[in-house]
Amino acid sequence: MATLPKVVGRIRDLRAAVGGFKAEGAQVALVPTMGALHAGHVALAEKAREIAQRTVVSIFVNPTQFAPHEDFSRYPRTLEEDLFKLADVGVDLVYAPTATEMYPAGFAARIEVGGPSAGLESDFRPHFFGGVATVVGKLFIQCAPHFAVFGEKDYQQLKVVTRLSRDLDLGVEVVGLPTIREEDGLALSSRNAYLDEEQRRIAPVIYTALARAADAIRSGAPADAAVATARGMIEALGLKVDYVAARNADTLAPLKDRGEPVRLLAAAWLGDTRLIDNIPV
Ligand code: PAF
Repeated sequence: MATLPKVVGRIRDLRAAVGGFKAEGAQVALVPTMGALHAGHVALAEKAREIAQRTVVSIFVNPTQFAPHEDFSRYPRTLEEDLFKLADVGVDLVYAPTATEMYPAGFAARIEVGGPSAGLESDFRPHFFGGVATVVGKLFIQCAPHFAVFGEKDYQQLKVVTRLSRDLDLGVEVVGLPTIREEDGLALSSRNAYLDEEQRRIAPVIYTALARAADAIRSGAPADAAVATARGMIEALGLKVDYVAARNADTLAPLKDRGEPVRLLAAAWLGDTRLIDNIPV
């Protein structure tokens, strides 16, 4: 059986361990997660192992990115199982801080990133990217990795943390990895665990609708019409759509010219579960 990775919960222990890796001449890649790891996270950790000699995975369910009415308290917490999965990948270190280590009493700082955080998720979860940018900024400063690996599943988040690292000169190269999907197209997500059998059967409609819209746009259909059809397909199965949108794939700004790179993004509620997905055109 593979050896479990070492787990540290204190910033000073993280820094000492990463300092040791760097003293060996190793490059370090960080994979920030909230735990409840699935094959998508495992792929991120494998990517980290491919691009750096030492790999750190952080596991922290970050309270500042959840609004009071959201699923912070029921978010799955599965540390032991997570460690076994990371052992199989050969991850060197797990950083699992407590909430007070991350946010000591009186904590009052917050990082806000403009640009790619405008619209989409922010229209429905206005607190979200401030919380993500704050915790990811802290993780980058605490760990000081050379690389950080994020999934394209949270495409807007990937753009926000890329901009965060660049604009604040954090010196971390952000690497994105394509979404890992179930055979029926459903994007892997820790929140899929909330779905009952019937909901699980319906959930791939978001991907199917986006894929059809992407095909239509590639065949010359106007993006607006393709997006409206995708929205209708998703709503027809009873989901409540927050947004389906075609955006510039680099900036996430609304489309202006016909030749720009396009990304289709969607978020919808299936019962009490909010699912998001996106695909390139
Ligand atoms: O994508 C996630 O799991 C979280 O938003 C992240 C990046 C770990 C920050 O808490």
